Amino acid sequence: MAPVPLGGTIAVTGSAGFIGSWIVKLLLARGYRVRACVRNLADESRTAFLRQMEGYGTGRLTLHEADLDNPGCFDDIFAGCHGVCHVSHVSDYDDQDYISRTCEHIIESVNKSGTVSRVVVTSSLAAVIQDADIQELVRRPVIYEDRILDENHPKRTPERGQGYSMGKVLTEILFAEAAELSGDWDTITICPADNVGPILSPHQKDMGPWQHNIETMLTGKYYQNAGYRPWMVVDVRDDAACHIGVLESTEVYNGERYLAWSTETRNVEDICADIDRLLPELGHAGAELVDPFPEHIQQRETQLRQIWAQCDLRNDRIVGLLGIEFRPMDESIRDCVESLIAVGGVKPVLREGFDLRQ
Ligand SMILES: NC(=O)c1ccc[n+]([C@@H]2O[C@H](COP(=O)([O-])OP(=O)(O)OC[C@H]3O[C@@H](n4cnc5c(N)ncnc54)[C@H](OP(=O)(O)O)[C@@H]3O)[C@@H](O)[C@H]2O)c1
Repeated sequence: MAPVPLGGTIAVTGSAGFIGSWIVKLLLARGYRVRACVRNLADESRTAFLRQMEGYGTGRLTLHEADLDNPGCFDDIFAGCHGVCHVSHVSDYDDQDYISRTCEHIIESVNKSGTVSRVVVTSSLAAVIQDADIQELVRRPVIYEDRILDENHPKRTPERGQGYSMGKVLTEILFAEAAELSGDWDTITICPADNVGPILSPHQKDMGPWQHNIETMLTGKYYQNAGYRPWMVVDVRDDAACHIGVLESTEVYNGERYLAWSTETRNVEDICADIDRLLPELGHAGAELVDPFPEHIQQRETQLRQIWAQCDLRNDRIVGLLGIEFRPMDESIRDCVESLIAVGGVKPVLREGFDLRQ
């Protein structure tokens, strides 16, 4: 199917979110017309920053209210669009029937549009790595796009914490099948890793989860990651560039998915220490590590860390497709911290003798 024309009209769901708003911003910078979808236009705390973006004053950027839960609410928004970036979360990842319905709502509006030729769907690294049995990472340690999770594993249930990953896999499948059936548009999936980088609006400091985790580091407490997994990051600006890259690409095919990540990893405690290493002028006092896991999981920390350490993270496909050079993690952490303070108003805990410059 056709890539979107440069400068065409693109709708972005989840535009008030961390990734969605960077996609909006970069689309505008590349000359596109953007229809930014949010749930509540009247919520100034989540929409004011979009109205301040270049393009809003001239009408190249327009804001639209739509809730995925309501069928038909994207019909008018998608009509006349060339592409859609479906970035938003859904309200509930534990109800797979509900997730199917939200996909149907988007798909039906795309079909009705008659103009959309490409839909980029934001899935997740979780759809590639979140095995119900962690030993599967030892058996199949290469993390790349064709790594398919065992959907029939008895522990692959929302009750076992797999709802998010299951919902993302389901979404990928439903969109690829619908596009195939339609013949008028295609779907390319981006599977982002852990997004770190600058927030664009104060409300984004509490979302994420990764930028929020850095916020808690700044304010003196931070949390051990699920299964002692190291952070596997992508800068949010690079993630947005990947979305736009596949929107424009002539080399992609319906149903393909691309991991968006630098493949750099770092343990959570090292990230906390990095704040002082990267920004010594700030005088960050450090933070206390909170390990929320039950004792039987804590006892497996060494083993779990070894499992993650032997994984082989690959981004050959997206690099080969787009020629993208991912930012180093240090840059993402530094810019995240500075934005949390400057944009988010976060007050970090500082060592004696240091003051926050306002
Ligand atoms: N952040 C990461 O590290 C990461 C990693 C892998 C994958 N992802 C995926 O990337 C996407 C965006 O993540 P993010 O971090 O940017 O999330 P975010 O900052 O929490 O933003 C998500 C947006 O989804 C919108 N939303 C939630 N429920 C909705 C509904 N029922 N109808 C319409 N909009 C709804 C919200 O819109 P309003 O603000 O207008 O209410 C929100 O702004 C998600 O699909 C997520 O699964 C994220």
